[in-house]
Amino acid sequence: MSRRDKIVVAIDGFSSCGKSTLARELAKQLHYVFIDSGAMYRGITLYAIRNGCVHGSELDRGKLIQQLGDIHLSFKLNPETQKPELHLNGENVEKEIRTPEVAAQVSQVATIKEVRTKLVDQQREMGKNGGVVMDGRDIGSVVFPNAELKLFITAEIETRVQRRYLELQDKGLEVEKDEVRANLLERDRIDSTRKESPLIQTEDAVVIDNTNMTRSEQLELALELVEKKIVTLA
Ligand code: DC
Repeated sequence: MSRRDKIVVAIDGFSSCGKSTLARELAKQLHYVFIDSGAMYRGITLYAIRNGCVHGSELDRGKLIQQLGDIHLSFKLNPETQKPELHLNGENVEKEIRTPEVAAQVSQVATIKEVRTKLVDQQREMGKNGGVVMDGRDIGSVVFPNAELKLFITAEIETRVQRRYLELQDKGLEVEKDEVRANLLERDRIDSTRKESPLIQTEDAVVIDNTNMTRSEQLELALELVEKKIVTLA
């Protein structure tokens, strides 16, 4: 199969807009590789918490930068669920990176230039042959500015709060809705105002507001967009 048949799909948007769900389902349908770039920022955050770089709500940026060379991240497919799971220095940390403690720090960690450079290099390597669906905040703007298809996903804030709340409850984590809302709004603020690669909607991105869409409607729309794009490239 030629490079053009296997395109790069870049999916960006705010937290809890359903980007990863869409990216995973789209990759499955297309037989592409799915890469959840947020998981990688979460992996570095977990390392920082475990290795004395976080004191209360304070992040010791210098200490984390010094240790970046010791952090090795990789994705391995879970044969049961067929979902890729993040490994940090060989340990499966898929569950540990989804806790509120990691969520509370991750946007701060993602503002560090050295962290971004390390992860962007690895992400480019993973997508260099095409055939990937990658979701995050800077995929269409920085990681793959030449991606053949860019999607920008949005949804109303209360819809996002409800989705994240249910997701956390599903995992047995007790949280208040107000706490979830505050965390999402704070992450939106940091992600879109930071100096290094802020979340932006690129001009060539197709915007999908999924507030009133089902998961399958959204998937169908994305699949149509991919098919159209592949036809125009043929
Ligand atoms: O998608 P997520 O909620 O798992 O992302 C976690 C954090 O990582 C989010 O607050 C912003 C950051 N992030 C980023 O800066 N760039 C990316 N490509 C992906 C995530």
